[in-house]
Amino acid sequence: MNAPAKTDDFVVAETPAQVQAKIPDGVYAETVLAVEHYTDRLFRFRMTRPAGFRFRSGEFAMIGLMVGEKPVYRAYSIASPAWDEELEFFSIKVPDGPLTSHLQMIKPGDTVLMRKKPTGTLVLDALTPGKRLYMFSTGTGIAPFASLIRDPETYEKFDEVILTHTCRDVAELKYGFDLMEEIRNHEFLAELVGDKLKHYPTVTREDFKYRGRITDLIENGKLFSDLGVPALDPAVDRGMICGSTAMLKDTKDLLEKAGLVEGSNNKPGEFVIERAFVG
Ligand code: A2P
Repeated sequence: MNAPAKTDDFVVAETPAQVQAKIPDGVYAETVLAVEHYTDRLFRFRMTRPAGFRFRSGEFAMIGLMVGEKPVYRAYSIASPAWDEELEFFSIKVPDGPLTSHLQMIKPGDTVLMRKKPTGTLVLDALTPGKRLYMFSTGTGIAPFASLIRDPETYEKFDEVILTHTCRDVAELKYGFDLMEEIRNHEFLAELVGDKLKHYPTVTREDFKYRGRITDLIENGKLFSDLGVPALDPAVDRGMICGSTAMLKDTKDLLEKAGLVEGSNNKPGEFVIERAFVG
């Protein structure tokens, strides 16, 4: 006969009231609506949007979970556009990451915390007027651009929008392909975006139509010949960069070499970088 189980052997699920009681003051506590896992490294989730929460497409927020008795937060670009009734996030899974090791387990109905003030530099206001907007991303760095490519204002300000997304392998590009599909099938966005948006997906560690780091493809000119556009020109081209620290630096150097000047919220310029982004 089995020995009677000790109480310690059971993980007792907390009631909503117990979860609520622990939530720190001054933060939003939102409900997870959907979770989609792409690979063992990537997933996205959607959650409710607090009634009073305003942000500009491309900004990030601090997202968190209660881990034991303590909230753990990390900066997350908001992947949904400013007009959306829900909030979407695209996340990496780090096996022993303080937040993502827990966040990757969320399911619909769970509570996710969000600090109240969004911020960030990957916003249209931080760029001077131009004709062609490049969004350079690697990995989950596509998230702020998932927001901006679904915002009508992007297409009011630019004639052409080029989203580059580089990942290690093809499976990691899926979120980007899904976004393009969503826009093509969207009631309003499909017509508004038309053929202004170009998606340039590349991989570095397996065979695919487009291969290589975006920095190499800028340097050797393949990006421009593949797209049928002229080389970078500060008179008409604007850029936004989001990716790993090394990718930010290398891409920034290339834009500066082409004569583009970095801008910020206080001083709009020809390209902007999100430095808060990790991973
Ligand atoms: P690579 O496979 O050559 O390292 P990660 O998954 O590690 O965040 O990387 C995402 C993508 O960013 C990978 O395709 C990776 O290429 C690429 N990458 C890494 N470092 C740089 C860099 N300094 N400049 C441009 N791309 C980079």
